[in-house]
Amino acid sequence: MRRTKPHIISLVGARPQFIKLAALTGALSKKTDHVIIHAGQHYDRVMSEVFFDELAIPEVALNLAVGSGSHANMTAHIMMRFERLLLEKCPDLVLVYGDTNTTVAGALTAAKLNIPVGHIEAGLRSFRRDMPEEINRVMTDHLSSLLFCPTPVSVKNLREEGIGKGVVRSGDLMYELIDNHRGRIAKAVTLLKRHGVRRHEYLLLTLHRAGNVDDEKRLAKIVDILARLPYQIIFPLHPRTRKNLNRFGLRKSLEQHSHVHLIEPLSYLDNLRLIAAASAVLTDSGGMQKESVFLGTPCLTLRDETEWPETLKRGNQLVGLSERKIKSRLSSLKRTGRVMPFKIRNLTPSNIITDSIMRFLKG
Ligand code: UD1
Repeated sequence: MRRTKPHIISLVGARPQFIKLAALTGALSKKTDHVIIHAGQHYDRVMSEVFFDELAIPEVALNLAVGSGSHANMTAHIMMRFERLLLEKCPDLVLVYGDTNTTVAGALTAAKLNIPVGHIEAGLRSFRRDMPEEINRVMTDHLSSLLFCPTPVSVKNLREEGIGKGVVRSGDLMYELIDNHRGRIAKAVTLLKRHGVRRHEYLLLTLHRAGNVDDEKRLAKIVDILARLPYQIIFPLHPRTRKNLNRFGLRKSLEQHSHVHLIEPLSYLDNLRLIAAASAVLTDSGGMQKESVFLGTPCLTLRDETEWPETLKRGNQLVGLSERKIKSRLSSLKRTGRVMPFKIRNLTPSNIITDSIMRFLKG
């Protein structure tokens, strides 16, 4: 059968990828025959389906159902299953997103079959090779024919690694998605009531980085600090964090503190609503750092480095696991309050990406 539109396959598998996909799929589906494949890296309803439902992402054509496992196990299984699919479907281009095991597995499989790869959120670097995400980013960028960079810094990072061809400064899909939903994000009254907190009188905390939550000492230290913070704290538990709190026997001690509210992972919109209404966000996530400053909420990043250095001048601060830094920032926020929402000149990344793909495929 002769195709009238180019055939694009998006491979996604983990929560932050569904979000970027949600921003892109409308524009992409108008001009291409766009098919979504789910690797199955995230599989709990609250980590996956919820995002497809809430953001009206088109249905997944196939779920590779890889599930959890070691890095090699997960990557290898995605590759074997994805290769079978690519051999059958022969797409014109494969799109991968972000920096997870799904990303690198998809890029490597396609590149070995000589299928061009487009990388959404290319060029980010933490410059720490002990983070699995950093290895995934570097590998994926070096395998990609089209590299969609959200920021000038990401373009520069690629240039410094000798990558210039195929680089497109596309702007930030996550910012575009926030813009598309501002009206819905503002409606938080019921949600705040449900969690028993008041606007600008609580902290929102998320943790999931292996470096923080797989290490018993570091996780215990975080629990210790939380116990002493004079704030209501809403803490949605990523499955990895929940598992480790239980495994290290730390969950009980956290539950003894009535100011810490352990809750299920949040949907995309509820997460943004709780970010927007918080006094501050504490996180080790990359996406949450951006979302906080985009919404004018101060962010304390529980790491020593960030892939988003531009957020540091806009209300984000690296505090590592230093109780002193955390407390001093929180008390200065009592005086200074919120930060100016970080507004970026973001044309429409979804259109820029789609048009670049069309141009690339026309040769
Ligand atoms: C992955 C990505 C990380 C991204 C994050 C977003 C890698 C190396 N890491 O980390 O870059 O920021 O997603 O959340 O790809 N689990 C469940 N249910 C699920 C998913 C996971 O119970 O639906 C549990 C399993 O015990 C699993 C653990 O969480 O072993 C970790 O999941 P995994 O996909 O390996 O990494 P994340 O920590 O989610």
